[in-house]
Amino acid sequence: MTDTAELSHLGSLALSLAQEGGELAARLRAGTVEVAATKSSLVDVVTAADREVELLIRSRLAELRPEDSILGEEGADVVGTSGLTWVIDPIDGTVNYLYRLPSWSVSVAVCRGRPDPREWDLLAGAVVAPALGRTWHATKGGGAFRDGERIQVGAATELELALIGTGFGYRAAQRAAQAAVVAEILPKVRDIRRLGSCAIDMCLTAEGSLDGYYEQGINPWDMAAGELVVREAGGVVTGLGGQPASINMVVAGNETLAAELGRVVALSSQSGLGGV
Ligand code: IPD
Repeated sequence: MTDTAELSHLGSLALSLAQEGGELAARLRAGTVEVAATKSSLVDVVTAADREVELLIRSRLAELRPEDSILGEEGADVVGTSGLTWVIDPIDGTVNYLYRLPSWSVSVAVCRGRPDPREWDLLAGAVVAPALGRTWHATKGGGAFRDGERIQVGAATELELALIGTGFGYRAAQRAAQAAVVAEILPKVRDIRRLGSCAIDMCLTAEGSLDGYYEQGINPWDMAAGELVVREAGGVVTGLGGQPASINMVVAGNETLAAELGRVVALSSQSGLGGV
């Protein structure tokens, strides 16, 4: 059952978990932050704060929603019985966090069905960016909000006048392919921004501070809350060539711009170094 009361409860919980996680991450950022481990490459880092924030959110969920599943960036999957999964990125933009750059966020979402962007039914999501002083949240059918104010995607439809966000993965071969694609796209748009947190890029797209966003290699936890915020702000989130968004590609924006951006990304990927 996900009636209005249940959606509203899930929305409030997603928001309070992301806020609590954000407060802890901000406190830890005031001290010394060091790399605790690396993942897919030497530059794909995890800090102790990533782990602590995820543990905090997991412990709250274990207490409050013991029947739900959990998919988090920094821990083992928890398999529950309710059919709902919490999708957590404890710090999205970890490299910014490490370098004291402000574009990092805590992202918490809950979906029904498998936590896979190709098929999930996102019910609620929140993205908290403490160093930017911004909070975005959305519940399915209930609209999208930034700091309590309703938001809407931008109206730009011409790619050449559009400000586009993107990002790059951590592996050298993937980056080379992504660089080839961005080299093709840059002359066709107003400009490109690489801010370093997919969740924030998607929320900025939802509020019209970016016209669109695309990236290859995005994991479910990077995009879950941001996707719902974009959709509830009247935008679309897709893959390429009619495919749903997935690790292969995420494209977001208003419907017209996202279609045009997706077309150009697909063409650029074909001519790019080995494609993305
Ligand atoms: C990363 C950020 C970044 C994006 C990378 C992601 P992380 O997440 O979202 O903006 O370009 O693809 O992996 O590693 O900081 O959680």
